[in-house]
Amino acid sequence: MSTSSSSKSSLSGLRIGVIGAGNMGQALIRGLVEKSVYPQNICIFDIDKKKIDAIKKEAHVRIAKSSRQCVSLSDVVILAVKPQLLGEVIAEIATGVQKDALVISIAAGVSLSSIDSFFKRPISVIRVMPNMPALVGAGMSAFSLGKHASAKDRKIAEAILSAFGEFVQVPEKMLDLVTAVSGSGPAYFFLLAEKMIEAAHGMGMKVDIAKKLVYQTALGSGRVMIENGEDPEVLIERVASKGGTTEAALKSFKRYGFGKAVQEAIKSACKRSIQMRGNK
Ligand SMILES: NC(=O)c1ccc[n+]([C@@H]2O[C@H](COP(=O)([O-])OP(=O)(O)OC[C@H]3O[C@@H](n4cnc5c(N)ncnc54)[C@H](OP(=O)(O)O)[C@@H]3O)[C@@H](O)[C@H]2O)c1
Repeated sequence: MSTSSSSKSSLSGLRIGVIGAGNMGQALIRGLVEKSVYPQNICIFDIDKKKIDAIKKEAHVRIAKSSRQCVSLSDVVILAVKPQLLGEVIAEIATGVQKDALVISIAAGVSLSSIDSFFKRPISVIRVMPNMPALVGAGMSAFSLGKHASAKDRKIAEAILSAFGEFVQVPEKMLDLVTAVSGSGPAYFFLLAEKMIEAAHGMGMKVDIAKKLVYQTALGSGRVMIENGEDPEVLIERVASKGGTTEAALKSFKRYGFGKAVQEAIKSACKRSIQMRGNK
């Protein structure tokens, strides 16, 4: 297994093209520029001129006139459009992608074999499932290698992914579950935050105070998990003393089926990812 900490690759000199400058495309571009990729080595294309203008103003990257022009100027092509548009976009660029180029797709649920079939010729492809905290450089990405991707391609992908967070390599069959855990996962934490704020507000606290308490508690808890590395069970024990307030809350969570709800939610997301892969 390959993880973030093993990445030492450099992106210097590589020309990177990003097609689709939406939420994820912009997060990527910002991360790459912050990671000292020379903005003139990044080329972007999006059909939405407003997004292009905004990112050009902020990051001073190159703007392509078309997706074909973008790929013709790139050693690495990142496809960051919605999954349902991926086939269409690949049809536009397929013959323009350079012979030795690496294509990285972040489209949820589009398999490596589908991407290969859209290209109709051997292309080095890496499929990635990133997540939304990439926006603040704290993303979690899992990736799988296509059959033509080399060890050098893997290093390049790792260097790119490390520009906006952590990464791990997984077999492609694991990506539906990755989607259910870390792809959709930020929304589960946001839901917990929302419910905590609602509960506090319902008991008389001002929303802005409740929001501050909850957001900082989320940040602190996240940092403890990452920096401390211990299992959640051990960390819970550190907060919950016998007969105390946390224990009372944990008993309520248990009584109302919190564990089962989380288990079912992750199963549902995974099932939906599999359905979407079958275009249902
Ligand atoms: N957002 C997440 O949390 C997340 C997490 C994991 C994976 N992903 C994956 O990341 C990919 C991008 O998601 P996103 O949330 O960044 O989507 P997004 O904000 O909609 O960005 C996609 C961009 O691509 C543009 N576009 C559409 N057709 C195009 C074309 N033919 N050529 C060039 N650009 C085109 C869109 O323009 P218009 O808006 O005008 O259509 C939009 O600006 C998706 O495949 C998604 O599955 C997203």
